[in-house]
Amino acid sequence: MARLIVVSNRVSIPARGDDRRAGGLEVALREVLRKHAGAWFGWSGHVVSAGETTTTQLEVDGRSYITTDLTEEDFEEYYNGFANRVLWPILHYRMDLAEYSRRDLTGFLRVNDYFAQEIHKIIEPDDLVWVHDYHLIPLAKALRERGHANRIGFFLHTPLPPAEILTALPRHERFFPALAHYDLIGFQTETDCSNFARYLATECKLPSRDLRTFLFNGRSLQLSVFPVGVNTEEFGQWAERGQRSAFARRVSGSLSGREMIIGVDRLDYSKGIVSRMEAFERLLIASPEWRNRVTYLQITPRSRSRIREYIEMDQLVSATAGRINGRHGEADWTPIRYVNRTYARSALAGLYRRARAGLVTPLRDGMNLVAKEYIVAQNPDDPGVLVLSRFAGAAAECEGAILVNPYDIDAVAEALAFALTMPLEERKKRHAASMRRLRSNDIRDWGDRFLEALAVADQEMSLFANLPQSSLPRMASDRPIATARAGSHSLT
Ligand code: F6P
Repeated sequence: MARLIVVSNRVSIPARGDDRRAGGLEVALREVLRKHAGAWFGWSGHVVSAGETTTTQLEVDGRSYITTDLTEEDFEEYYNGFANRVLWPILHYRMDLAEYSRRDLTGFLRVNDYFAQEIHKIIEPDDLVWVHDYHLIPLAKALRERGHANRIGFFLHTPLPPAEILTALPRHERFFPALAHYDLIGFQTETDCSNFARYLATECKLPSRDLRTFLFNGRSLQLSVFPVGVNTEEFGQWAERGQRSAFARRVSGSLSGREMIIGVDRLDYSKGIVSRMEAFERLLIASPEWRNRVTYLQITPRSRSRIREYIEMDQLVSATAGRINGRHGEADWTPIRYVNRTYARSALAGLYRRARAGLVTPLRDGMNLVAKEYIVAQNPDDPGVLVLSRFAGAAAECEGAILVNPYDIDAVAEALAFALTMPLEERKKRHAASMRRLRSNDIRDWGDRFLEALAVADQEMSLFANLPQSSLPRMASDRPIATARAGSHSLT
């Protein structure tokens, strides 16, 4: 098989013990590189002064990890700015939070162009390139402009909202269509995929026969769905072992026989943490028999802490936990344990198994691997119950979960009461149903499925055999992105 070049903003290097902070994207990509030889390129995680950026290559188990630094300016404009203050809220249906500036867009394009320049130094004609997530939407275009005709795939780990929301991005018509330079775009859910298909058809007027294969610049663009899964075998083993670890025993002992509800999320407004705490409070009010009999553990590592919305979230979540504990707590019972720490996934696995209920209620989420990992971690003979937002991508596969609308706080409280009292037979039935689906979509096959589809992506060109090339539209974004790293250019 051809060499694989994976590109993403974050790179997780096994030898550095990056497991601890790894999010869903890094976990998934590590599995891909376990199976396929190649290189993983991205940001080193370091921010340095202008002129001091270096690119470093590390070899681990026959895989190359190539990382490059960002300057202060890059970090502000590309990462904190356009990626996380504009694209992240828009992709999570929160256009009200997007803070667009031309300066950030220019910085975003500059870093994408810089990544393309670095990849240009190592790419060979047969390499398959697989780019990940919203930080790198324009990367294929920047590579094509350097003459690379390689197969290039893209996978979006976040949701993709309807065209009505995408068009709220100023100059969206110059930005999102850059995705058409990929050969294959993968999404987490059917909804995300259909939303983008409709955007391409209605806003970009790209010809398509089936709303899955489009024609652009004489190439075909394929859209498809590849929900990210989990390594069911490995995670199940971690949970079994983890429940006996000193850490899990300490946590369990500290509960003094009470039931535990668990939530684990990066601190982010898309995760619905405040409403979730309020739902737990409603449970204590509506079902007072649970007072002093259940503890809710919310583990929430801080994230993107230079961005205003995240600083405000941090204060709001702490204040909400403090208020609820002050109002309902007892001298010997703290209802909510709120912890801003990162734990290794193997340690979390043991805690998931101890928790009677998993509470995963994002307002919008691409997939949410915590939901899947909670199910996989359960003891099949006495499983806990997952309360899951219908707006998480995982809802399509976690058949046995109690699905809730996270905006309906009373309904989430009722779902929690139901989860805590569910009879064993029903818990087992629901757990088995979810496990069947999760096993059939194991992460170990995810990369293969995408790469096989990427390898044959252009065979779909035959669909357009009778379409005159002159009838094809030229998109606004189909112009060079001129953004030298040192310079500062706008899109116009
Ligand atoms: O899946 C969304 C995502 O942005 C990933 O790209 C990233 O690895 C993860 O969330 C964590 O976010 P950040 O890299 O901004 O800490």
